[in-house]
Amino acid sequence: MSASEIGLVGLGVMGAMLSLNIADNGFAISVYNRTTSKTHDFMRDEAGDLASKITPTETLEELVASIAKPRAIILMVPAGDAVDSQIEALRPLLDDDDLIIDAGNANFHDTIRRAKAAKSKDEAYLGIGVSGGSEGARFGPSIMGGGEKKYWDRVSHILEAISAKYEGQACATWMGENGAGHFVKTVHNGIEYADMQLIAETYGVMRDGMAMTSEACGSVFEAWNEGPLQSYLIEISGKVAKENDPETGKPMLDIILDRAGQKGTGRWTVIESQQVGAPVPVIEAAVAARNMSADLDTRKAGEDVFGSAPSPLPADALSIDELEAAMMAGKIMCYAQGFALLNKAGEIYDWKLPMPQIAEVWREGCIIRSSMLNDMASALSEHPERNLMFEGYFADKMRQSHDALRKTVAVAVTHGLPVPAMSAALSYFDTMRTARSTANMIQGQRDFFGEHGFERIDKDGGGFHGPWVS
Ligand code: 6PG
Repeated sequence: MSASEIGLVGLGVMGAMLSLNIADNGFAISVYNRTTSKTHDFMRDEAGDLASKITPTETLEELVASIAKPRAIILMVPAGDAVDSQIEALRPLLDDDDLIIDAGNANFHDTIRRAKAAKSKDEAYLGIGVSGGSEGARFGPSIMGGGEKKYWDRVSHILEAISAKYEGQACATWMGENGAGHFVKTVHNGIEYADMQLIAETYGVMRDGMAMTSEACGSVFEAWNEGPLQSYLIEISGKVAKENDPETGKPMLDIILDRAGQKGTGRWTVIESQQVGAPVPVIEAAVAARNMSADLDTRKAGEDVFGSAPSPLPADALSIDELEAAMMAGKIMCYAQGFALLNKAGEIYDWKLPMPQIAEVWREGCIIRSSMLNDMASALSEHPERNLMFEGYFADKMRQSHDALRKTVAVAVTHGLPVPAMSAALSYFDTMRTARSTANMIQGQRDFFGEHGFERIDKDGGGFHGPWVS
């Protein structure tokens, strides 16, 4: 049997689907899983017609021996220690220029560490972010690459072939050195959290404020998916809302427990935003909302003490069109924050992130794909460093929709409906268009209690004190 062009370790859902995608695109691939029975199951149950392109292996030695040199091996193992253990097990069996590609949802700080360690030993290593869930992995994910460009170039023909395509253009791009790819994926996930939360909040306003059924909410999302909000997340929200539980016949949304899980990528985005000083309050609100959702017992106790939100809104309090416009404004704020974070972190980590290409790589295949990303790519090619909310198309959209966001937040807040991400979006908008903020008071306080000094509006330099400092 001739040698495979690439190898893959880890036949969980994502690894299995990615292997099939690679084979389906005509590349011979060797696969390995620590539990051998999983490899057998995969070949028997999933490989199907593609089996002739896939070489199952039972040991790492066998895997390595079955791949053409210089080898490339994708790791699809759980992020964290498992990646380090796998690299440790694999490296001694490889030549230095054999390439290890971590395609899991790694913390980009780990990827920076691993990439630097590999570079210091002249070993080939890439960290790539892969988005699109299992369906994307199988039929075309969005791929965000990081590491030395020469290694990306070595495998880019495979990664581009298996990636999603936007009007024929591959959604697979090299983002920069070391952890750049995994960082872009992390911010993607932060935006994913925020986009999901904004949608969940509009659902909450419809369900609890407008007394709409799941079916009716689903129809609204379906309609929105035909307009400027067209996106994968709106599309699936419509489907989720319209589905019934086969067991009880009730709407699925009435059966699903309101406690959201998370694997940590949204939290990493928020932590990093604080580290580099590029605030992402809509994403922060979304991460906090997941954490609050998890605290079900406390929420139940809270309802016992204070009662739930009052009865539905008056019929004319808010229209579905206003809710749609509010969602649009919230979404623009969340992306503006995400791109601002990418920009700032790119400078700090010296990645020179290709801003328009990030929007382009998200146009297809990934979870946050939406029609808006093409306009974002255009805006970012004009002014990659400028806050998206100030760019022509998006500035116009904000002019048209911020009143609806304000009204939605006001109506929801007045009626006790929680809308943390929308509120954060509105506060961000109002803050970022206020030339004279209230931080003069903060500076006065800091100087008063700690003699920290301040700048004056009428003189150059800093270190001025108020008369309270004697
Ligand atoms: C993607 C997703 C994916 C993510 C899951 C779950 O781009 O395909 O972002 O990578 O891991 O959607 O994330 P949480 O469990 O944190 O919600």
